Amino acid sequence: MYDVYAVREDFPVLKEVVYLDSTATTQTPIPAVEAMVEYFYRYAGNHGRGAHRLARETTNRYEDARETVASFLNADPSKTVFTKNTTDGINLVANSYPWEAGDHIVTTMLEHHSNLLPWLRLQKKGVNVTVVSPDRKGIIDPQMIENALTDRTKLIAITQVSNVFGSIQNIKRTTKIARRNGVKTLIDGAQSAGHMPVDLKDLECDFFATAGHKGLLGPQGTGVLYIRQPEILESASLGGGTVSDVSGLSYTLEPSPACFEAGTPNIPGVIGLGRAVEYVEKIGVSEIEKHEAKLSGEAAKRLSELEHVEVYGPENRAGIVPFNVKGLHAHDVALILDQTRKICVRSGHHCAIPITRFLEVDSTVRASFALYNTEEEVDILVNAVNALKALVS
Ligand SMILES: Cc1ncc(COP(=O)(O)O)c(C=O)c1O
Repeated sequence: MYDVYAVREDFPVLKEVVYLDSTATTQTPIPAVEAMVEYFYRYAGNHGRGAHRLARETTNRYEDARETVASFLNADPSKTVFTKNTTDGINLVANSYPWEAGDHIVTTMLEHHSNLLPWLRLQKKGVNVTVVSPDRKGIIDPQMIENALTDRTKLIAITQVSNVFGSIQNIKRTTKIARRNGVKTLIDGAQSAGHMPVDLKDLECDFFATAGHKGLLGPQGTGVLYIRQPEILESASLGGGTVSDVSGLSYTLEPSPACFEAGTPNIPGVIGLGRAVEYVEKIGVSEIEKHEAKLSGEAAKRLSELEHVEVYGPENRAGIVPFNVKGLHAHDVALILDQTRKICVRSGHHCAIPITRFLEVDSTVRASFALYNTEEEVDILVNAVNALKALVS
């Protein structure tokens, strides 16, 4: 197991607060920040657009980052597209796939709005959508997905880890069902990449969208989209960098990934992301997974022992612990935890209104753990939540 205290030295803000909101966004380690600073100070140029030395260096570093990220996810670099976040990647697929009226999409009630609204919007084009429900612990039974398929189903869109419950879905079984039925799969990996081993060849999905700014520890404004068969999408966003020729009224698109990255990308962000992924790789994603599961398991167990607290989600969970304090609104709990102990947790519906309503509440408090959190921080959280008993009894 890695030395969590040594790791914390790379995240200076952790000296100031108890940061338990990595599901929203993670902190970025010093080496990744330094890689971005180096870009600005030493070689800032544009990507793929120049013969001079700064443009060449920028292009090389940007493409090195693609190699790093693709290899980390066991994907082909030519199928690995940089986006601005998970949402952007999912919208790219929704807007670029050749939908026809009468096509059908299966998704789930667990989804973050980012993996729900792009599909619901397609109803305007005559695409039908079925939303499959999870059980009370936030687990989707893949059999329910299979039962929802019709002969017009084109896509199954499902999250790998729920950002509301921390529940881990059986993606391998889902992609098997999809392939057996000739249906494509889009996996929302916002809460899985960097938190658990993700091998895209093994997962056999068609699309995998994730964020650079969550488990991969990169900066905000970065994301990754894997596209197994780039030729089936026609990029909805075209412009500089996407074409090899324009003549009269026609144009020839560049092959993937260039045809999906129109305009100047987030170059410093992608370079920082590449360095951040190297950082995650060096620590070891399996070790990170064990560490986060240990902390969240401990926090969930101890919080559920408190009479005034209700904890949601399954026993085996990723690093996410949602709960409510009976008699207090989630936003009040989050504010008090911040003001009394400098604990940063998220509160609200977590951009997942349907599944929050499914719990018969309008919001939850969410404590989430990353590679840099400690058992002492679990103690601080549990003690602080325990102290709220005085306010509710
Ligand atoms: C499961 C899930 N999907 C999608 C998103 C949206 O991610 P992004 O902010 O990178 O677009 C999030 C963000 O929390 C998430 O948790």
